[in-house]
Amino acid sequence: MPRAARKAPIAPTFSTRVVRWQRAHGRNGLPWQGTRDPYRIWLSEIMLQQTQVATVIPYYARFLERFPTVRVLAEADPDEVMAAWSGLGYYARARNLQRAAREVQSRFGGEFPGSFDALATLPGVGRSTAAAICAFASGERRAILDANVRRVLCRHGGIDADPASAATRDALWAAAEARLPRRGIEAYTQGMMDLGAVVCLTRNPRCSLCPVAADCVALSSGRIAELPAPRARRERPRRHVAMLVVLSRGEVLLEKRPARGIWGGLWSLPEGEVSIAPEHILERDWGIAARTVSALDPFEHGFTPFTLEVTPWRIDARRPARARSGRAGSWLALQDVDGAALPSPVKRLLRSIAAGAGTSPGSRGAASRR
Ligand code: ADE
Repeated sequence: MPRAARKAPIAPTFSTRVVRWQRAHGRNGLPWQGTRDPYRIWLSEIMLQQTQVATVIPYYARFLERFPTVRVLAEADPDEVMAAWSGLGYYARARNLQRAAREVQSRFGGEFPGSFDALATLPGVGRSTAAAICAFASGERRAILDANVRRVLCRHGGIDADPASAATRDALWAAAEARLPRRGIEAYTQGMMDLGAVVCLTRNPRCSLCPVAADCVALSSGRIAELPAPRARRERPRRHVAMLVVLSRGEVLLEKRPARGIWGGLWSLPEGEVSIAPEHILERDWGIAARTVSALDPFEHGFTPFTLEVTPWRIDARRPARARSGRAGSWLALQDVDGAALPSPVKRLLRSIAAGAGTSPGSRGAASRR
């Protein structure tokens, strides 16, 4: 009698392992899960583009309370949108958010689009974000490729070329698409994000917990620490700026920043050259005379393209009855700083001044500097 053929067990595919792992061990119950509303999912994906889950959660809840629908967001005062975003950073996201909401009104009749092609035309929505929104909102089978997923794929596939090059990017998109599951795209997409965020970490990855460790090329070849290949390092340039904290009657002078560039659209402190006495900058740009000037503690703030070195000055001033400069400024009471659309480091500085701290020794009358 012929012996029954023994069936070799079929190893579960990459996507099956990721889906099973996500359901059992991934991040579930996040505030933007359990909805199919593309507006809510879009908002979460934009907030999560450059910001971690724990930071996003309270912002997401507050934002939705204030702007519960895409229409409310489209019609809102841009200052209010910026204020709700203040502290999340990368403010181009907030400006694009409202531009996209307005396009949803004008181009899509107020109905948030669900198709990948339409989503990818909205400001701030790239290929990966459009794919994530489609996957979560309608279960459409699309590949995502953010920095975390790139790391997982480079390691699992042993891709060791420069991840920033166009050829490698194409190879990574192909790798991402080749691994898609036939079913369960929601759990798979979330699973890839979760793997990158909590298991396949840049440093000290937790390979013993990884569902795809068995065929991970980087792990089997001892190259986990080397992959992904680092990008060519560039020294970040430094810029130096003086910031003026101009105080009068418990209020601080603010200026709206241009829409483009760092902190675009936020209110911030007047700035000037570090080589010029701050009271001269104040007189020259604002027509305001300083009473006393004192140095505050310098600080740095890192942006993607450069590091900003800030030399802040506290200037107690006499407010002119009528503005003598063409500049559009606004006076804000120090106790209202928390709710205003200000960059985080500026908020911190103003809070410390409101609390009576942050001044370096050496306060002097403005006249003594001349
Ligand atoms: N990062 C980007 N999108 C995410 C999501 N939906 N959940 C958790 N982290 C994310």
